[in-house]
Amino acid sequence: MAKVKITETSLRDGHQSLIATRLTTEEILPIISEMDKAGFYSMEVWGGATFDTSLRFLNEDPWERLRKIRANVKNTKLQMLTRGQNLLAYKNFSDDVVEMFLQKAIYNGIDIVRVFDALNDFRNMRKSIEVIKKEGAHCQCAISYTESPVHTQEYYLKLIKTFEDAGADSICIKDMSGILLPYDAFNLVKAIKEITNLPIELHNHCTSGIAQMTLLKAIEAGIDIVDTAISPLSSGTSQPATESLALTLKGTSWDPELNIDSLSNIAEYFKPIMNKYIESGVLQTKVLMTEPKTLLYQVPGGMLSNLLSQMKALNAIDKFDKVLEEVPKVREDLGYPPLVTPMSQMVGAQAVFNVMYGERYKMIPTEIKNYVKGLYGAPAAPIKQEIIEKIIGDEAALTIRPADLLENSFETIKAEIGSLARNDEDVLSYAMFPHVAKPYFEKRYPQAANF
Ligand code: CO
Repeated sequence: MAKVKITETSLRDGHQSLIATRLTTEEILPIISEMDKAGFYSMEVWGGATFDTSLRFLNEDPWERLRKIRANVKNTKLQMLTRGQNLLAYKNFSDDVVEMFLQKAIYNGIDIVRVFDALNDFRNMRKSIEVIKKEGAHCQCAISYTESPVHTQEYYLKLIKTFEDAGADSICIKDMSGILLPYDAFNLVKAIKEITNLPIELHNHCTSGIAQMTLLKAIEAGIDIVDTAISPLSSGTSQPATESLALTLKGTSWDPELNIDSLSNIAEYFKPIMNKYIESGVLQTKVLMTEPKTLLYQVPGGMLSNLLSQMKALNAIDKFDKVLEEVPKVREDLGYPPLVTPMSQMVGAQAVFNVMYGERYKMIPTEIKNYVKGLYGAPAAPIKQEIIEKIIGDEAALTIRPADLLENSFETIKAEIGSLARNDEDVLSYAMFPHVAKPYFEKRYPQAANF
């Protein structure tokens, strides 16, 4: 039994989960030195949606935010989240872009990179792992946790062994839907501990009301690191509260030994900021409500509310239950993909089509066709031949790594954005989100737009 380490998620997942990632650098910087004194093992501050939101809504350079945070954080490791070959966007990038992006993220201040793939297809993570290792950063490989007849304990243990063989420095159980039950977590962590000496971290969400119990059981089973968020940015669809866990473990051998005064100061700092977001409607009270339906339907909270608003928009709220029943069927047809971005949106869209057209797979979104063609990677279970035929006819599905289809593209992208990009970081912003980065650059340097 040893001290549990804490990854503080407020500055990435905390505000991403509760207020659509709207914290500005100006709101973050005044408290960052205090956060650095609290005794966290790491702070997740970058990646996920922070990058897109900075450019799209906050008129901020995400690289600049990272550098400013780094300049004020001396004791705590800075952590980011990246989705393998997709990096922070929604498509596969060529290997040279993946390499340049991760190099620059590490160069600008990231210590720990948490890398995952939505389908747990290791081939989509391989290049990232190689670069993170080469750059001397800590490579944390995450499993996208889901439940299905094929997502057994053996499945996860095998995946973790693959990560270990590839050079992972630690392993994360990433339960983005908040469905990992306390006793299942206990058993899973125990089993993982038997096959590897790598540090194990648990990331979950309070959506369904079990996350705090799950953390505690995982700690009892010997987990090394857990993800929490400071109280004003915790709970609901976010992580469990940092202070509550710190006080729960006080006096035990797991005590994370955080500075409780610092935690209070951080919480007091964020309270009025969160009040402001409640008043402006950015923080909607429904994200704070417990949604145990997630456990029944195996549908993440965010996906539930998206489906609800889609059905409202279609004037078909009476068919909402039918859609909820259709989601697991579509998921089974597609080889049980974890319901994480982008699979949650894709499976949801197909379920809505199947119900609204009164015939399954009469209408099929392009993304679903591409998925069945193998462009996203391999599902955990093979897709049945009849479903493949229904969706892509007799076209052959891809068996190679999807990114092997892509030529190196960094130089082309660089030439395309030209003088609007002032450095390679700008080129990478443009590579990630071209339609968002370009107007941002034009606003930043009005004179350069004339060239
Ligand atoms: Co999360």
